[in-house]
Amino acid sequence: MQQAIAILDSGVGGLTVVKEVMRQLPREKIIYFGDTARTPYGPRSAEEVLLFTRQIVNYLLQYNPKMIVIACNTATAVALQEIQASVSIPVVGVIQPGARTAIKTTRNGVVGVIGTEGTIQSGAYAQALKEISPQTKVLSLACPTFVTMVEQGLFSGEEVRSEIALALEPLQTHPMDCLILGCTHYPFLAESIGEVMGPSVSLISSADETAREISTILSHSGQLARTIDHPIHQFFCSGDPKLFRIITQNWLREQIHVTPIVWQITHLFMT
Ligand code: DGL
Repeated sequence: MQQAIAILDSGVGGLTVVKEVMRQLPREKIIYFGDTARTPYGPRSAEEVLLFTRQIVNYLLQYNPKMIVIACNTATAVALQEIQASVSIPVVGVIQPGARTAIKTTRNGVVGVIGTEGTIQSGAYAQALKEISPQTKVLSLACPTFVTMVEQGLFSGEEVRSEIALALEPLQTHPMDCLILGCTHYPFLAESIGEVMGPSVSLISSADETAREISTILSHSGQLARTIDHPIHQFFCSGDPKLFRIITQNWLREQIHVTPIVWQITHLFMT
């Protein structure tokens, strides 16, 4: 049986990475887990996010994937290294790819980063950006309301736009030329964020570069899928499967089947 790429997030955000993986690597089978019952991860403690991430990884490992993609910045910031050290397959996060793309894109060296409270407080983007290019000026801002809007299926319209304008106001006076969407949920709001920031600011999503990194790793290990042209992907979510399916189908423009997962108490304390 074809080994899948396992992709996880706190909810529907990681689908922005899924879409890009499907575009760049159409033969790859994907197993996706959205922890919609416990979203958002942003306001949670690092310990809790680490525990939830471990739990989902343990769940996904039973499907024998060839790689794990933590398509959540909040989880990448606190759990990537620990998960990498604890499993024997490659584990990819989304912060390094986003930082690389921003450094390639910026002309004036001033980079904005928006993300969840957890991601911004971790300082992971500032660190990743400065490791690549120490002179970069980084302006970071937490946008706690965005994930909830996306999980409710609210992506556009006047209310969404004014919420975004209000949240991004602190960035408006700074001369950045690119803004990292440092949460995988934010590309769902890219149109409104772009309108608010204006055409001189390029929006950076990690999805594109993350998919390229996946491709490079699989290619080097000779594990790229070769034979299956239309793989059947699998989707799991821990919350309401109806809304999850609607958002997923609209975003991916594909019919999908969702398996709802009810976390058992025994899962909670697995290591
Ligand atoms: N999509 C996730 C991220 O990239 C998680 C957002 C959340 O659950 O707060 O950070």
